[in-house]
Amino acid sequence: MFYLIANWKMQLLEKEMVALTEKIIEQNSRTPLTGELILAPHFSALKTVGSLIKNTPLKLAAQNLFYHERGAYTGEISPLHLAELNVAYVIIGHSERRAFLKETDLDVNLKIKIALKNKLTPIFCVGETFEERQQGKTAVVLIRQIIRGLEDVKLTPDQELIIAYEPVWVIGSGQAVRPLEAKNSALVIKKVLLDYFTPEQIEKNIKIIYGGSVDADNVDGFIMPGLMTGALVGTASLTAEKFLPLIKKLSTISN
Ligand code: PGA
Repeated sequence: MFYLIANWKMQLLEKEMVALTEKIIEQNSRTPLTGELILAPHFSALKTVGSLIKNTPLKLAAQNLFYHERGAYTGEISPLHLAELNVAYVIIGHSERRAFLKETDLDVNLKIKIALKNKLTPIFCVGETFEERQQGKTAVVLIRQIIRGLEDVKLTPDQELIIAYEPVWVIGSGQAVRPLEAKNSALVIKKVLLDYFTPEQIEKNIKIIYGGSVDADNVDGFIMPGLMTGALVGTASLTAEKFLPLIKKLSTISN
């Protein structure tokens, strides 16, 4: 069971998202993924993309949410809005939001909690910057982000949590990390999770995936059964030429 998540960020206009979604649906009907194929369009296209994928196995993700359900919060998006649009997943704590929007670990924690409360599965992003890696602090950063992000987070038996390990310095670079490096980080993440959840919960309800310059040529290196089971994809999800081969590749690995 794999997760393939297309994060379209603020890169595409509605017309382009519609055309791409149609091609993705078609590819997935020919080479179905054993797992979840999830599209995270821009907020403005959630409704349109949602109606296109309605009778398909594809799922919808939002790229962010706010940590209150209602109130005077100009410009923010409530989990209630996402629920109205049949959104199933929500990306939380992406490094671009941490860097450009100054999102803190506390914001991330509040967002994870409100997402779970509203039956949205969080795709919780963690990862070190280049400087942190150079200073040998990768594990410390991951542990800090997980400890703060998951404070007071509880999972009921039917809730899931996806943790996306995304080394910040390779996002959008065209060069993924070596799979061994991702594996070491995933092992750190898995170990910290034991402070919060039982091994059975980790096995059943929590998935670790990789993100950072994933494409059809390198994706298999990041699939490590029992440890890393999917990919969060930015650049290679923006065109049919790049994304359809990724679906095809993953469908052959999972079948
Ligand atoms: P990328 O983006 O695939 O372009 O590196 C990944 C992400 O930001 O989630």
